[in-house]
Amino acid sequence: MLTVKNLDVAIGGSRILRGTTLEVPAKSVACLMGRNGVGKTTTLKAIVGLLRADSGQVTLEGRDLTGASPETRARAGIGYVPQGREIFPHLTVDENLRIGALAQGKKLNGNLDRVLELFPILKEFLPRKGGMLSGGQQQQLAIGRALLTDPKVLILDEPTEGIQPNIIDQIGDTIRLLRREGRMSILLVEQYLDFAKELGDVFHIMDRGAVVANGPIAALNETVVKKYLTV
Ligand SMILES: Nc1ncnc2c1ncn2[C@@H]1O[C@H](COP(=O)(O)OP(=O)(O)O)[C@@H](O)[C@H]1O
Ligand SMILES: [Mg+2]
Repeated sequence: MLTVKNLDVAIGGSRILRGTTLEVPAKSVACLMGRNGVGKTTTLKAIVGLLRADSGQVTLEGRDLTGASPETRARAGIGYVPQGREIFPHLTVDENLRIGALAQGKKLNGNLDRVLELFPILKEFLPRKGGMLSGGQQQQLAIGRALLTDPKVLILDEPTEGIQPNIIDQIGDTIRLLRREGRMSILLVEQYLDFAKELGDVFHIMDRGAVVANGPIAALNETVVKKYLTV
């Protein structure tokens, strides 16, 4: 289980997170939602260690990671697929896939075959440069790269943003499969309500730097959606 308690983060002197608190229970998918600019990406960056929190706490399975470097957190089991994907355009698909695990000194074992089974298009494109792939294929590549580090929690920042419907379906299937296997928990930032409702176990909704509503996904009703999610 990943827990985030009372995170305060400031960027360039302005308070972006004000006591953000959330939990990703073991073996489940937690959806983090909220309108643009409320602090979802900032929360994820503070969890993976790319932004320093002024106060608050991040723990993974009871281990305090609050002061740890991004590398230490990744090694401890936090896998991250950033918004906008951020693959290496000049490296091949094969190199892109291996680089995360390589950086952590982890063996791929059978995991590469598994990822290529999840995303068959990547197998076909292994020797191609990452930059040649479509947006949706790059998203699959970024997810594959994170999976090869064998994370305890997989963090996905808007994986469906700007992607064709058929690839959204494949990404949905993958999240469903990972959830069923129960090897990792998933923290999913998602704008599409239907996608979140289909895949999530629990939700957290942010507004102005704090979590203002949370509960089992079934409790994500019309009133909550109107208040915090519709534009
Ligand atoms: N590097 C940055 N410099 C200045 N402001 C930033 C920076 N990153 C994010 N912000 C501000 O922080 C707030 C939260 O951003 P973000 O976490 O990206 O929101 P979300 O992911 O929910 O859309 C926004 O008001 C945004 O303008
Ligand atoms: Mg964002």
